[in-house]
Amino acid sequence: MSAEKVLVLNATGKVGRNVCRALREAGFTVYGTTRSANNQLSAQGIKAVVANYTQPDDLRQAFVASGAKKVFVITDFFSAAGKSAEREFAQGRAAIDAAKAAGVDHLIFMSVADAEFFDEHVTHLKAKVQLEAYLRASGVPFSIVRPCAFFENLDDPDNWNPLKKGVVKFLSLDECKYCATYDIGRAAAVQLKNPQAWLGKSLDVIGWQGDLAAVAAALAEVSGVPVKAKLAMPVFLRRLFLKDLHHMFLYYEVQKGPRGTPEEFKKIVPDALSAQDWFRFHGRYANGDKISA
Ligand SMILES: NC(=O)c1ccc[n+]([C@@H]2O[C@H](COP(=O)([O-])OP(=O)(O)OC[C@H]3O[C@@H](n4cnc5c(N)ncnc54)[C@H](OP(=O)(O)O)[C@@H]3O)[C@@H](O)[C@H]2O)c1
Repeated sequence: MSAEKVLVLNATGKVGRNVCRALREAGFTVYGTTRSANNQLSAQGIKAVVANYTQPDDLRQAFVASGAKKVFVITDFFSAAGKSAEREFAQGRAAIDAAKAAGVDHLIFMSVADAEFFDEHVTHLKAKVQLEAYLRASGVPFSIVRPCAFFENLDDPDNWNPLKKGVVKFLSLDECKYCATYDIGRAAAVQLKNPQAWLGKSLDVIGWQGDLAAVAAALAEVSGVPVKAKLAMPVFLRRLFLKDLHHMFLYYEVQKGPRGTPEEFKKIVPDALSAQDWFRFHGRYANGDKISA
Protein backbone atom coordinates (compact mmCIF):
# COMPACT_ATOMS: atom_id res chain seq x y z
CA MET A 1 0.00 0.00 0.00
CA SER A 2 1.35 3.46 -0.88
CA ALA A 3 2.06 5.90 1.97
CA GLU A 4 -0.74 8.28 2.92
CA LYS A 5 -0.41 11.85 1.67
CA VAL A 6 -0.33 14.89 3.93
CA LEU A 7 -0.31 18.47 2.71
CA VAL A 8 1.56 20.90 4.98
CA LEU A 9 0.66 24.57 4.48
CA ASN A 10 3.59 27.00 4.83
CA ALA A 11 6.18 24.22 4.67
CA THR A 12 9.27 26.45 4.73
CA GLY A 13 8.77 28.29 8.04
CA LYS A 14 10.12 27.39 11.48
CA VAL A 15 7.15 25.12 12.09
CA GLY A 16 6.48 23.86 8.58
CA ARG A 17 9.93 22.53 7.84
CA ASN A 18 10.15 20.45 11.01
CA VAL A 19 6.53 19.29 10.78
CA CYS A 20 7.32 18.06 7.25
CA ARG A 21 10.40 16.27 8.56
CA ALA A 22 8.51 14.56 11.40
CA LEU A 23 5.63 13.49 9.14
CA ARG A 24 8.03 12.10 6.53
CA GLU A 25 9.87 10.16 9.25
CA ALA A 26 6.49 8.82 10.42
CA GLY A 27 5.97 7.31 6.96
CA PHE A 28 3.70 9.85 5.25
CA THR A 29 4.20 11.17 1.73
CA VAL A 30 4.51 14.87 2.49
CA TYR A 31 3.53 17.73 0.19
CA GLY A 32 4.43 21.24 1.29
CA THR A 33 3.39 24.65 0.04
CA THR A 34 5.80 27.49 -0.64
CA ARG A 35 5.51 30.59 -2.80
CA SER A 36 8.97 30.00 -4.22
CA ALA A 37 9.60 27.82 -7.26
CA ASN A 38 13.25 27.90 -6.24
CA ASN A 39 12.93 26.04 -2.91
CA GLN A 40 14.83 23.39 -0.95
CA LEU A 41 11.84 21.14 -0.22
CA SER A 42 12.63 18.30 -2.62
CA ALA A 43 16.15 18.05 -1.16
CA GLN A 44 14.39 17.29 2.16
CA GLY A 45 12.18 14.60 0.64
CA ILE A 46 9.12 16.89 0.49
CA LYS A 47 7.04 17.30 -2.66
CA ALA A 48 6.89 21.04 -3.28
CA VAL A 49 3.55 22.61 -4.20
CA VAL A 50 4.14 26.17 -5.36
CA ALA A 51 1.25 28.06 -3.77
CA ASN A 52 0.56 30.98 -1.47
CA TYR A 53 -1.13 29.31 1.51
CA THR A 54 -3.08 32.47 2.31
CA GLN A 55 -4.87 32.62 -1.06
CA PRO A 56 -8.12 30.66 -1.60
CA ASP A 57 -7.40 29.86 -5.28
CA ASP A 58 -3.89 28.64 -4.47
CA LEU A 59 -5.25 26.51 -1.62
CA ARG A 60 -7.78 24.83 -3.90
CA GLN A 61 -5.04 24.10 -6.43
CA ALA A 62 -2.72 22.76 -3.72
CA PHE A 63 -5.32 20.16 -2.67
CA VAL A 64 -5.84 19.15 -6.31
CA ALA A 65 -2.09 19.01 -7.06
CA SER A 66 -1.30 16.88 -4.01
CA GLY A 67 -4.45 14.76 -3.89
CA ALA A 68 -3.99 14.81 -0.10
CA LYS A 69 -6.94 14.11 2.20
CA LYS A 70 -4.92 15.09 5.26
CA VAL A 71 -3.64 18.59 5.90
CA PHE A 72 -1.61 20.46 8.51
CA VAL A 73 -2.82 24.06 8.76
CA ILE A 74 -0.59 26.87 10.03
CA THR A 75 -1.72 30.48 10.26
CA ASP A 76 0.65 33.29 11.07
CA PHE A 77 -0.22 36.65 12.61
CA PHE A 78 3.24 38.22 12.26
CA SER A 79 4.37 37.45 8.69
CA ALA A 80 1.60 36.26 6.41
CA ALA A 81 -1.18 38.22 8.16
CA GLY A 82 0.88 41.40 8.55
CA LYS A 83 -0.01 41.70 12.28
CA SER A 84 -3.77 41.70 11.68
CA ALA A 85 -5.88 39.24 13.67
CA GLU A 86 -8.75 39.76 11.19
CA ARG A 87 -6.48 38.84 8.27
CA GLU A 88 -5.09 35.81 10.12
CA PHE A 89 -8.65 34.64 10.80
CA ALA A 90 -9.62 35.12 7.14
CA GLN A 91 -6.53 33.18 6.02
CA GLY A 92 -7.23 30.29 8.40
CA ARG A 93 -10.91 30.25 7.44
CA ALA A 94 -9.89 30.01 3.76
CA ALA A 95 -7.70 26.99 4.57
CA ILE A 96 -10.52 25.26 6.49
CA ASP A 97 -13.02 26.02 3.69
CA ALA A 98 -10.60 24.70 1.04
CA ALA A 99 -10.05 21.53 3.09
CA LYS A 100 -13.81 21.04 3.34
CA ALA A 101 -14.26 21.52 -0.41
CA ALA A 102 -11.46 19.02 -1.06
CA GLY A 103 -13.13 16.37 1.14
CA VAL A 104 -10.26 16.25 3.63
CA ASP A 105 -10.68 13.42 6.16
CA HIS A 106 -8.33 14.85 8.82
CA LEU A 107 -7.24 18.46 9.29
CA ILE A 108 -4.67 19.27 11.98
CA PHE A 109 -4.81 22.91 13.07
CA MET A 110 -1.88 24.47 14.87
CA SER A 111 -3.20 26.76 17.58
CA VAL A 112 -1.42 27.81 20.80
CA ALA A 113 -1.54 26.29 24.30
CA ASP A 114 -4.06 28.14 26.52
CA ALA A 115 -4.83 30.62 23.69
CA GLU A 116 -8.14 31.54 25.34
CA PHE A 117 -6.55 32.49 28.68
CA PHE A 118 -4.24 35.35 27.61
CA ASP A 119 -5.41 38.89 28.37
CA GLU A 120 -6.91 41.31 25.84
CA HIS A 121 -3.51 42.88 25.03
CA VAL A 122 -2.24 39.62 23.49
CA THR A 123 -3.59 40.45 20.04
CA HIS A 124 -1.45 37.90 18.18
CA LEU A 125 -3.35 34.95 19.69
CA LYS A 126 -6.91 36.19 19.12
CA ALA A 127 -7.38 34.57 15.70
CA LYS A 128 -6.28 31.19 17.07
CA VAL A 129 -9.25 31.12 19.47
CA GLN A 130 -11.66 32.20 16.73
CA LEU A 131 -10.27 29.67 14.27
CA GLU A 132 -10.61 26.81 16.75
CA ALA A 133 -14.30 27.72 17.09
CA TYR A 134 -14.74 28.05 13.30
CA LEU A 135 -13.09 24.66 12.79
CA ARG A 136 -15.26 22.95 15.40
CA ALA A 137 -18.39 24.26 13.64
CA SER A 138 -17.12 23.56 10.11
CA GLY A 139 -17.92 19.87 9.89
CA VAL A 140 -14.32 19.13 8.80
CA PRO A 141 -12.83 16.17 10.73
CA PHE A 142 -10.08 17.76 12.80
CA SER A 143 -7.57 17.61 15.62
CA ILE A 144 -5.72 20.54 17.18
CA VAL A 145 -2.11 20.82 18.34
CA ARG A 146 -1.49 23.59 20.86
CA PRO A 147 2.24 24.33 21.22
CA CYS A 148 3.86 26.47 23.91
CA ALA A 149 6.96 28.66 23.26
CA PHE A 150 9.23 27.25 20.58
CA PHE A 151 12.86 26.42 21.39
CA GLU A 152 13.42 27.93 17.92
CA ASN A 153 12.93 31.39 19.49
CA LEU A 154 16.40 30.89 21.02
CA ASP A 155 17.92 31.11 17.53
CA ASP A 156 15.81 33.60 15.61
CA PRO A 157 17.96 36.01 13.57
CA ASP A 158 14.83 37.44 11.87
CA ASN A 159 13.74 38.70 15.29
CA TRP A 160 17.17 39.98 16.34
CA ASN A 161 18.00 36.93 18.44
CA PRO A 162 20.66 34.86 16.65
CA LEU A 163 22.11 32.03 18.77
CA LYS A 164 25.78 32.75 19.49
CA LYS A 165 28.45 30.70 21.25
CA GLY A 166 28.52 31.25 25.02
CA VAL A 167 25.24 33.14 25.43
CA VAL A 168 21.53 32.42 25.29
CA LYS A 169 18.93 35.22 25.18
CA PHE A 170 15.17 35.31 25.63
CA LEU A 171 12.52 37.86 26.63
CA SER A 172 12.20 36.34 30.14
CA LEU A 173 14.61 34.92 32.70
CA ASP A 174 11.78 33.06 34.45
CA GLU A 175 10.66 29.49 34.12
CA CYS A 176 8.99 28.88 30.74
CA LYS A 177 7.49 25.89 28.97
CA TYR A 178 9.11 25.08 25.63
CA CYS A 179 8.62 22.72 22.72
CA ALA A 180 10.52 21.86 19.57
CA THR A 181 8.66 22.50 16.32
CA TYR A 182 9.76 18.96 15.39
CA ASP A 183 7.61 17.67 18.27
CA ILE A 184 4.60 19.56 16.87
CA GLY A 185 5.05 17.37 13.78
CA ARG A 186 5.48 14.23 15.86
CA ALA A 187 2.29 15.09 17.76
CA ALA A 188 0.47 15.60 14.45
CA ALA A 189 1.73 12.20 13.24
CA VAL A 190 0.24 10.55 16.34
CA GLN A 191 -3.10 12.25 15.68
CA LEU A 192 -3.14 11.38 11.96
CA LYS A 193 -2.26 7.74 12.61
CA ASN A 194 -4.95 7.23 15.23
CA PRO A 195 -7.99 9.26 14.14
CA GLN A 196 -10.38 7.24 16.33
CA ALA A 197 -8.53 8.52 19.39
CA TRP A 198 -7.84 12.06 18.19
CA LEU A 199 -10.66 13.34 15.97
CA GLY A 200 -12.28 16.36 17.66
CA LYS A 201 -9.54 16.53 20.31
CA SER A 202 -6.65 18.85 21.05
CA LEU A 203 -3.17 18.23 22.45
CA ASP A 204 -0.89 20.68 24.26
CA VAL A 205 2.66 20.33 22.91
CA ILE A 206 4.98 20.97 25.86
CA GLY A 207 8.33 19.22 25.81
CA TRP A 208 10.33 20.77 28.64
CA GLN A 209 10.24 23.50 31.25
CA GLY A 210 12.95 25.53 32.89
CA ASP A 211 14.23 29.05 33.50
CA LEU A 212 16.79 30.72 31.24
CA ALA A 213 19.63 29.64 33.55
CA ALA A 214 18.56 26.02 32.95
CA VAL A 215 18.46 26.68 29.19
CA ALA A 216 21.99 28.10 29.42
CA ALA A 217 23.13 25.06 31.42
CA ALA A 218 21.70 22.79 28.72
CA LEU A 219 23.59 24.65 25.99
CA ALA A 220 26.78 24.56 28.11
CA GLU A 221 26.42 20.79 28.48
CA VAL A 222 25.93 20.26 24.73
CA SER A 223 28.52 22.79 23.53
CA GLY A 224 31.18 22.17 26.17
CA VAL A 225 31.64 25.92 26.75
CA PRO A 226 30.27 28.11 29.57
CA VAL A 227 27.01 29.88 28.61
CA LYS A 228 25.53 33.10 30.04
CA ALA A 229 21.74 33.59 30.27
CA LYS A 230 20.71 37.13 29.29
CA LEU A 231 17.51 39.04 28.69
CA ALA A 232 17.13 39.92 24.99
CA MET A 233 15.92 43.33 26.25
CA PRO A 234 15.21 44.80 29.69
CA VAL A 235 11.66 44.10 30.90
CA PHE A 236 10.76 47.83 30.97
CA LEU A 237 11.60 48.05 27.24
CA ARG A 238 9.66 44.84 26.60
CA ARG A 239 6.65 46.49 28.30
CA LEU A 240 7.10 49.73 26.30
CA PHE A 241 7.86 48.38 22.81
CA LEU A 242 6.49 44.81 22.71
CA LYS A 243 3.19 45.24 24.55
CA ASP A 244 1.55 42.19 22.95
CA LEU A 245 4.48 39.85 23.72
CA HIS A 246 4.97 41.48 27.14
CA HIS A 247 1.47 40.47 28.16
CA MET A 248 2.02 36.96 26.79
CA PHE A 249 5.11 36.68 29.01
CA LEU A 250 3.13 37.99 31.99
CA TYR A 251 0.84 34.97 31.56
CA TYR A 252 3.93 32.75 31.76
CA GLU A 253 5.63 34.67 34.58
CA VAL A 254 2.74 35.66 36.84
CA GLN A 255 0.08 33.06 36.10
CA LYS A 256 2.63 30.27 35.47
CA GLY A 257 0.82 29.29 32.26
CA PRO A 258 0.27 27.40 30.12
CA ARG A 259 -1.39 24.80 32.34
CA GLY A 260 -0.17 21.69 30.50
CA THR A 261 3.00 19.86 31.53
CA PRO A 262 5.83 18.00 29.82
CA GLU A 263 4.76 14.91 31.79
CA GLU A 264 1.32 14.98 30.15
CA PHE A 265 2.76 15.47 26.65
CA LYS A 266 5.29 12.67 27.17
CA LYS A 267 2.41 10.23 27.59
CA ILE A 268 1.82 10.87 23.86
CA VAL A 269 5.37 11.59 22.60
CA PRO A 270 7.58 9.87 25.21
CA ASP A 271 10.90 11.15 23.84
CA ALA A 272 9.80 14.80 23.45
CA LEU A 273 12.90 16.96 23.11
CA SER A 274 14.42 18.53 26.23
CA ALA A 275 16.55 21.69 25.98
CA GLN A 276 19.70 19.55 25.66
CA ASP A 277 18.03 17.41 22.98
CA TRP A 278 16.92 20.49 21.08
CA PHE A 279 20.39 22.06 21.00
CA ARG A 280 21.74 18.75 19.64
CA PHE A 281 18.85 18.53 17.13
CA HIS A 282 19.30 22.17 16.02
CA GLY A 283 22.99 21.50 15.62
CA ARG A 284 24.41 24.90 14.70
CA TYR A 285 24.72 28.46 15.90
CA ALA A 286 23.22 31.18 13.70
CA ASN A 287 26.59 31.72 11.97
CA GLY A 288 26.68 28.06 10.87
CA ASP A 289 29.27 26.83 13.37
CA LYS A 290 28.54 23.48 15.02
CA ILE A 291 27.17 23.61 18.58
CA SER A 292 28.48 20.25 19.78
CA ALA A 293 32.02 20.21 21.09
N1 LIG B 1 7.29 31.44 18.23
C1 LIG B 1 6.63 30.72 19.11
O1 LIG B 1 7.12 30.46 20.22
C2 LIG B 1 5.28 30.16 18.78
C3 LIG B 1 4.64 29.34 19.72
C4 LIG B 1 3.40 28.79 19.42
C5 LIG B 1 2.82 29.06 18.19
N2 LIG B 1 3.46 29.88 17.31
C6 LIG B 1 2.79 30.13 16.02
O2 LIG B 1 3.63 29.76 14.94
C7 LIG B 1 3.15 30.45 13.77
C8 LIG B 1 4.32 30.93 12.97
O3 LIG B 1 4.86 29.84 12.32
P1 LIG B 1 6.36 29.91 11.79
O4 LIG B 1 7.22 30.39 12.91
O5 LIG B 1 6.67 28.60 11.15
O6 LIG B 1 6.27 31.03 10.70
P2 LIG B 1 7.50 31.62 9.86
O7 LIG B 1 8.77 30.87 10.15
O8 LIG B 1 7.53 33.10 10.09
O9 LIG B 1 7.02 31.33 8.39
C9 LIG B 1 7.82 31.87 7.40
C10 LIG B 1 7.26 31.46 6.05
O10 LIG B 1 6.02 32.11 5.80
C11 LIG B 1 5.88 32.35 4.41
N3 LIG B 1 5.43 33.73 4.28
C12 LIG B 1 6.05 34.84 4.78
N4 LIG B 1 5.35 35.95 4.46
C13 LIG B 1 4.26 35.53 3.76
C14 LIG B 1 3.18 36.20 3.14
N5 LIG B 1 3.05 37.53 3.16
N6 LIG B 1 2.26 35.46 2.49
C15 LIG B 1 2.35 34.11 2.44
N7 LIG B 1 3.38 33.42 2.99
C16 LIG B 1 4.31 34.12 3.65
C17 LIG B 1 7.26 32.14 3.80
O11 LIG B 1 7.22 30.96 3.02
P3 LIG B 1 7.51 30.94 1.43
O12 LIG B 1 8.34 32.15 1.12
O13 LIG B 1 8.25 29.65 1.23
O14 LIG B 1 6.18 30.95 0.80
C18 LIG B 1 8.19 31.93 4.97
O15 LIG B 1 9.18 30.92 4.76
C19 LIG B 1 2.26 31.57 14.27
O16 LIG B 1 0.91 31.21 14.07
C20 LIG B 1 2.51 31.58 15.77
O17 LIG B 1 1.38 32.03 16.48
C21 LIG B 1 4.66 30.42 17.57
